[in-house]
Amino acid sequence: MIDLHCHILPGIDDGAADVSVSLAMARASVDDGVSVVACTPHILPGLYHNTGPQIRQAVKDLQDVLDDENIPLRLVTGADVHIVPDFVDGLRSGRLLSLADTRYVLVEPPHHVAPLRLEDLFFNLLVAGYVPILTHPERLTWINERYASIKRLVRAGVWMQITAGSLVGHFGRNAKYWAERMLGEGCVHILATDAHDTKRRPPNLGRGRELAAKLVGDEEAEHLVVTRPKGGLSNAAPSDLPTPQVARTVAENADAETGTHQSHAAARGGLSSRLRRIFG
Ligand SMILES: [Fe+2]
Repeated sequence: MIDLHCHILPGIDDGAADVSVSLAMARASVDDGVSVVACTPHILPGLYHNTGPQIRQAVKDLQDVLDDENIPLRLVTGADVHIVPDFVDGLRSGRLLSLADTRYVLVEPPHHVAPLRLEDLFFNLLVAGYVPILTHPERLTWINERYASIKRLVRAGVWMQITAGSLVGHFGRNAKYWAERMLGEGCVHILATDAHDTKRRPPNLGRGRELAAKLVGDEEAEHLVVTRPKGGLSNAAPSDLPTPQVARTVAENADAETGTHQSHAAARGGLSSRLRRIFG
């Protein structure tokens, strides 16, 4: 598996506090079945003043340590880039980083306030040739009111990354609900850990993949943690990568409206009944 969102670099944000934590996170990732991790520290003016050149050096330094320790994990460059006004200029100048210098870039909106020109920012990135990956929409407190915006962004070509821990329930019921709903509706492209340490926010991609598979099947779960992340890191065009699948339960419920699969849909509980309530 490939983890495209991980705060594994030591001492440069609220992720790994020092190299010993980075090493523990790397070992936990390898044990979990991860072979490539994108190092994605926060870039947030006023709080985390990380820049492209600093992150590149930190990735190189940590890779040297992993190699010395014989930990079979490949690191690539990246950043968890908070919304800034001159986003495209920042990427072009190298001050901000995309994932492994590809067209794919993690974009983190503010958690508690929906930005006024949210859609404009993402459209500007798309027009400039980037594929923005909106990080953990399921954990944004404003998703309940702005889900229509999120869906418009997906239709426009923005990718969505949800957090493995949200499916586990580590971020509460609301985040779990939206993670499951977005997966079920075929609105999620990437599953990642957004790990910060080994205890409170650990690397748990394998567990997330298992839970995703229960909702969308093994094949789509593999696309979430292998196919699309791998395609992204090789800078493949999104059109050459698989489109997220709508969960069978959701498709059946759509059929049920025409009366063809009502008995199957009615026979299912749990997620299915929640989705039935959503789709009314
Ligand atoms: Fe993050």
